[in-house]
Amino acid sequence: MWHNPGQAQQQRAATDRGFMQRNILVTSALPYANGPIHLGHLVEYIQTDIWVRFQKLRGNRCIYVCADDAHGTPIMLKARELGITPEELIERIGREHQDDFAAFGIGFDNYYTTHSQENRELSELIYERNREAGHIDSRTIKQAYDPDEGMFLPDRYIKGECPRCGAADQYGDSCEACGATYTPTDLINPVSVISGATPEERESLHYFFRLQDFETMLKDWARSGHVQPEVANKLEEWFQEGLREWDISRDAPYFGFRIPGTEDKYFYVWLDAPIGYMASFRNWCERHGEDFDAWWDADSDTELYHFIGKDIVYFHALFWPAMLHGAGFRKPTRICAHGFMTVDGAKMSKSRGTFIMAHTYRNHLNPEYLRYYMAAKLGSNVHDLDLNLDDFTQRVNSDLVGKLVNIASRSSGFITKRFDGRLAGELPAPEIYREFVARGEQIAEAYENREFSRAVREIMALADQANQYFDEEQPWVLARDESTLPQVQAICTQTLNLFRVLMVYLKPVVPGIAAGAEAFLNVDEQNWQSVQAPLLDHAINRFQPLATRVERAQVDAMIEESRETLAPKTDAPDTSGPLADDPIGDTVDIDTFARVDLRVARIREAARVDGADKLLRLSLDLGGETRTVFAGLRSAYAPEDLQGRLTVMVANLAPRKMRFGVSEGMVLAAGPGGDEIFILEPDSGARPGMRVK
Ligand code: MSP
Ligand code: ZN
Repeated sequence: MWHNPGQAQQQRAATDRGFMQRNILVTSALPYANGPIHLGHLVEYIQTDIWVRFQKLRGNRCIYVCADDAHGTPIMLKARELGITPEELIERIGREHQDDFAAFGIGFDNYYTTHSQENRELSELIYERNREAGHIDSRTIKQAYDPDEGMFLPDRYIKGECPRCGAADQYGDSCEACGATYTPTDLINPVSVISGATPEERESLHYFFRLQDFETMLKDWARSGHVQPEVANKLEEWFQEGLREWDISRDAPYFGFRIPGTEDKYFYVWLDAPIGYMASFRNWCERHGEDFDAWWDADSDTELYHFIGKDIVYFHALFWPAMLHGAGFRKPTRICAHGFMTVDGAKMSKSRGTFIMAHTYRNHLNPEYLRYYMAAKLGSNVHDLDLNLDDFTQRVNSDLVGKLVNIASRSSGFITKRFDGRLAGELPAPEIYREFVARGEQIAEAYENREFSRAVREIMALADQANQYFDEEQPWVLARDESTLPQVQAICTQTLNLFRVLMVYLKPVVPGIAAGAEAFLNVDEQNWQSVQAPLLDHAINRFQPLATRVERAQVDAMIEESRETLAPKTDAPDTSGPLADDPIGDTVDIDTFARVDLRVARIREAARVDGADKLLRLSLDLGGETRTVFAGLRSAYAPEDLQGRLTVMVANLAPRKMRFGVSEGMVLAAGPGGDEIFILEPDSGARPGMRVK
């Protein structure tokens, strides 16, 4: 449905303008091959794709590559669970990913997999060059081992009771209830998530990449404009903490590449994943007769842009440039990190139906609308970005349909009916047209700097101007009189030309609608330069609606489907409820229970806690007394969702000193954890301070 302008056409556009054509290699992070693409992922692929399409439209040579991230323990175990080989799993998921990406207009030049021959060779090469240069160490470490499965266990595959608060069912790295962080050996009654066996400690030889060898280089690199200011600040913190060696090996069984010179050691998935960018590009080069080395040599004058989420900055801004440098390759020109997507102000949640898969979205809404909405909200910073469903509906309807497409629909009718589809031979107000063309440079600058929201704002301001022009000229009045008919043709020609300019400017964002506009205007694929000359004395086609209104009911249906697809659906009696998962424990006598002082509390304030992913700091009003409580609610609630609400707290819990301050009580909540945590709320009428009995 969408295609990229051919290389030849791009080159022509470039030479026509006599400018320096840039060679830019662009990547998005490689999605894991163990689950479907969701709207959160799409923030990244849409952001990258808009930038790439903009570069191509401007006449630059821009190659966009990506791949599925196919290795690692979760993928190995998922395949086992499905009773298929990892190769079958990654093949299946890879196809689904590509299908979703195509539907959202993501125009990769190459989409590959990290489980490829090219990636194996490049991973071995980069590892060996680093080893020869002395950047790889090896030593024996102790690690949890599952004796039943015969495998070492990553921290996330061990669960047990929190060594600090005693909460059951906590992962091996941190406690969701109290926020404590620890190592799996600290857990009380640990079990392997895979087999249920009690893990043993075993020794194993591991390989390490000496990140600390690259400290000076990385500091220089990080301070010379290759990352956003917020990311640079984060890197300074990490420099302060000191760079440490990185464990790059995993023991068999592991789905990945075996480390050369070993029998049963594999590269950790994060070693070969970024190399997957190079491998995908090499695969493209081989098919297009391109010189790979010219792009990757240490002194290459090409540009390399990586678009990533803020969660994977450490890998891309420290390990990756260091690995490349150690192996004699060029380093990235820029790392462009973005924030995380929330829906209606809260983390995407399966139970609320806001964990929306790309596929579910496609069943109800036009992908171009999501692209438009994301663009309207994206800046060059790493702030989180909210998909507000009412705002989404309203913006699509008022901007895309009401302003932009409307320009064409209201002016084309006259041309088709009264002038046999032909535009006039000249513009009645060429200065407006010139102004629209001139504004292109500002818009281009906004795109170049990834200030898409600014670009969209400026385009929509021009759309207002175009509508205003049409309103003021009132061609529908002039059309009543035979003698003023030529003016009608001129006004509509002017309006349609303004529309054409706007569609070119918005083409990186809504390539599908732009292609529809090109068909309607009966023109070839447009590029940024096409608008220099207006379309005159030219036959256009009959107008077809290029975008239609979104109804809130469509959005609601999508939310409903998201809820359904994720809840287990079965006719058998439900044995998977909370009680079955979490059997009721030992009894306590009434006196013991009576010692627990439960109170109604009002959440006055809720705030995120820096450095604690799982915690919110709550300020609780107990009707005259205020308490500070650190609660493990962050994975399920945005602070603003909690502010002002009533809940129930344990008021006489002994205060606990935590890394971030003293916690003076505990809030009651239900649910297994993750995004399924539900705070308890009293019935209406309850007031802060009331005792709960
Ligand atoms: N496989 C690694 C990346 C390896 S790159 C050499 C990975 N995969 S992922 O599937 O978890 O995420 C892919 C990208 O999507 C990451 O950049 C991640 O930050 C981004 N996002 C995943 N969920 C997201 C949101 N909810 N919001 C915005 N971006 C999100 O990480
Ligand atoms: Zn705990």
